[in-house]
Amino acid sequence: MFPIVKKRVLNPTVTYMEILAPRIAKKAQPGQFIILRIDENGERIPLTIAGYDREAGTITIIFQKVGYSTYALDTLNEGDSLLDFVGPLGCASEFEGIKKACVIGGGLGVAIAYPQAKAMHDLGIEVDFIVGFKNKDMIILADEFESACTNLIVMTDDGSNGNKGFVTAALADKLAAGAEYDTVIAIGPLVMMKAVCDITKEKGIRTIVSMNPIMIDGTGMCGGCRLTVDGQTKFACVDGPDFDGHLVDFDEAIARSRMFRDEESESMKKHECRLTGGVK
Ligand SMILES: Cc1cc2nc3c(=O)[nH]c(=O)nc-3n(C[C@H](O)[C@H](O)[C@H](O)COP(=O)(O)OP(=O)(O)OC[C@H]3O[C@@H](n4cnc5c(N)ncnc54)[C@H](O)[C@@H]3O)c2cc1C
Ligand code: FES
Repeated sequence: MFPIVKKRVLNPTVTYMEILAPRIAKKAQPGQFIILRIDENGERIPLTIAGYDREAGTITIIFQKVGYSTYALDTLNEGDSLLDFVGPLGCASEFEGIKKACVIGGGLGVAIAYPQAKAMHDLGIEVDFIVGFKNKDMIILADEFESACTNLIVMTDDGSNGNKGFVTAALADKLAAGAEYDTVIAIGPLVMMKAVCDITKEKGIRTIVSMNPIMIDGTGMCGGCRLTVDGQTKFACVDGPDFDGHLVDFDEAIARSRMFRDEESESMKKHECRLTGGVK
């Protein structure tokens, strides 16, 4: 069993947890992920390793409540335990040779982008970190983000923090103002990563995206997470999750990501009363 040693509610939809998992904490690297199960009936939930403390033996996860299993995970508290917590899985991110980077996180991707920005900043790389939220009340981890980069740009869809627009608009503004990045890292919804790649391809800027398709085993056996990259089939769980964004077939990935929409919404409806007394 894997005890939850710390829980913080970051905003109404995003939760932070530290899990005691010393063997994973010993080996974890930025870019890798874990797969957890709450109990024997639980679905497998892949989540990025948002941080690790090798001494305390803990792994940090930051998750957004989007469906049945993430709502169920959020009902647990400090002192409760998870049945399974497997990792570290996937390839660690590679930062060699990067001097100036722009890291972009939108939606769920904000939590996933944070460890990447922090790891590069810790290596002395100049990092512009662009994050996007719906409105100012949804902004999370502002202090942590600030200390994980050289410049932080926080965008909101409704402009309630005084910075209205999508993360792609902020990137376009930076490039128009003469920013010279050798690498852009984009993490978030598929349409957002595709839009970033459209901008950077034109300018010839190397762009890494973190692909998070449906994963089941996370070890390259089920084929559930397959993608087409440069015309070849790749498995995001073992070949990624990081890929060269200019080579990813986003249209196929977007179509595949919609495959289980009906089942997911059915499962959420069935369980919403039991979990929350009515999920909005
Ligand atoms: C490598 C990886 C890292 C991830 N890291 C994070 C993270 O750090 N924080 C975070 O909030 N989310 C992360 N996710 C997404 C997270 O796994 C899903 O949001 C979660 O599994 C949704 O389950 P659900 O039952 O709550 O929602 P559901 O209603 O089942 O699904 C909602 C949406 O979540 C996605 N999803 C569902 N099941 C899976 C699955 N087994 N694998 C991948 N995606 C799925 C689908 O896009 C789906 O449309 C990551 C996914 C992957 C593959
Ligand atoms: S999750 Fe099964 S092959 Fe990647």
